Amino acid sequence: MNKTWWKESVIYQIYPRSFNDSNGDGIGDLKGITEKLDYLKDLGINVIWLSPVYQSPNDDNGYDISDYQDIMDEFGTMKDWEELLQEVHNCGMKLIMDLVVNHSSDEHAWFVESRKSKDNQYRDYYIWRPGIDGREPNNWESAFSGSTWQYDEATDEYFLHIFSKKQPDLNWENPKLRDEVYKMMTWWLDKGIDGFRMDVINFISKVPGLPDAPNPEGKKYASGGEYFMNGPRIHEFLHEMNKEVLSKYDIITVGEMPGASVEDAKLYTGHEREELNMVFTFEHMDLDSGPKGKWDLKKLNLLDLKENISKWQTGLNGVGWNSLYLNNHDQPRMVSRFGDDKEYRVESAKMLVTFLHMLQGTPYVYQGEEIGMTNVRFDSIDDYKDIEIINMYKEKVIEGKEDPAKVMESIYVKGRDNARTPFQWDDSENAGFTSGEPWIKVNPNYKEINAKQAVADQNSIFNYYKNIIQLRKNHPIIVYGDYELILPEHESIFAYTRSYENEKLLVITNFSGDATPFSLPGNVTISAPELLISNYDVPQNEDILSFKLRPYEARIYKSK
Ligand code: NOJ
Repeated sequence: MNKTWWKESVIYQIYPRSFNDSNGDGIGDLKGITEKLDYLKDLGINVIWLSPVYQSPNDDNGYDISDYQDIMDEFGTMKDWEELLQEVHNCGMKLIMDLVVNHSSDEHAWFVESRKSKDNQYRDYYIWRPGIDGREPNNWESAFSGSTWQYDEATDEYFLHIFSKKQPDLNWENPKLRDEVYKMMTWWLDKGIDGFRMDVINFISKVPGLPDAPNPEGKKYASGGEYFMNGPRIHEFLHEMNKEVLSKYDIITVGEMPGASVEDAKLYTGHEREELNMVFTFEHMDLDSGPKGKWDLKKLNLLDLKENISKWQTGLNGVGWNSLYLNNHDQPRMVSRFGDDKEYRVESAKMLVTFLHMLQGTPYVYQGEEIGMTNVRFDSIDDYKDIEIINMYKEKVIEGKEDPAKVMESIYVKGRDNARTPFQWDDSENAGFTSGEPWIKVNPNYKEINAKQAVADQNSIFNYYKNIIQLRKNHPIIVYGDYELILPEHESIFAYTRSYENEKLLVITNFSGDATPFSLPGNVTISAPELLISNYDVPQNEDILSFKLRPYEARIYKSK
């Protein structure tokens, strides 16, 4: 397998709005990030991924970009950004930027022109269609509720927006648009950045004709995913982007790809295919959703998680590359979702990072997970800021008359604002995030859960993360070893081995709050096992063939 620095890296995601506010306006900013680089260096991560920092009216917190080559006023200036890049590099770390080019903001100059007239030279930068019988051109449902189409009076046509109506989709069929995007990417790369995370990049090729989605339940709008995810020209576009831009630099590229299967990922990340380095799969994020989608809560069955993770681990082995994550700015906090954020918060957060970082792939840490930040429960819907939550609540409760308590419960479990509350730096007012009024409320548990406490406490989640990240640097088997699941039928233990050049790693994790006996299956051998790390004290010379795993216990053994 090819060895590369991006396979050996750990990436830390910053959601700038919620990370650290340096000027007291209640919104995190670039200078605030620069102030905290020592903290990140101490954690041991190699690469920072910045969620969007470009000019934006913030309908979707920066994922609606009105100028790709300028910095959002609230976050600072281009000079602040250049300083940040310089300091990141001085600290021996790298910086990757978010590339959001499935759509722009409706306030982007291209769209302002495009909507003016049908013969405007930018008309074809977006996807315009006439209505059909006074209705939208098709029945697709927006990711943020309602139709994907917005009527525009000036030209009596509709434009497509898979996300909010302030996020019109760009028309990748147009070679001029593609060329503009490539130029913009080159401009950033020439400034010295180290790669891109590409927002919903597998949505950029739509099925021609934009056909109606199947709608067996006769709903007002239906998911059109099959007509825009992994569409007919997607590999052609990514290959072209690679040839025109990416191949000229030694960078990381990761594509966010809802609806991509392992088979798709082999094509996107295949070593010889010259597209991307890795993709973010959504399959494991969907295992705790019922048939009605994300808000339809379902208890996770560990067997489903094992089956899914194993499929990706073996499917991409030697062919492509995995990215490893359990949360980000769009997902609930991982300790609340997969662990126990109360009695066993510390143990389960440590167990989860052990499980995740020992898999084959490049691990991502989302800001705050390294101190075990948890989901939040705001009493009032008015305290939520996320457009997805707000639109969904309006559709279900205000228009649909669904039970508000039930809808709030689904927000508590799945809402994106769970991950967007301010970073908890210390136990002072507003968790040390801002001296002003934070743009979104702080999680009230900041007095117990904060970085100051975690850095100082040798047994903290933070210090355990440091050790886990360090292990990766010392043991190539963690990066390059082959994965094999053991105990596939066990309902609470997730255990696997990694094998590399006559070495073996054994990873044992208990995903439950109950103690449970572990026995090594007879066909798994590990010679002279040494305990590399555990989230509990392990009695010396304990027989590893059979022992009792404590609640959320995790252990890693390595053959000598
Ligand atoms: C995925 C991003 O991660 C999410 O935050 C955003 O709302 C959508 N794409 C639209 O850009």
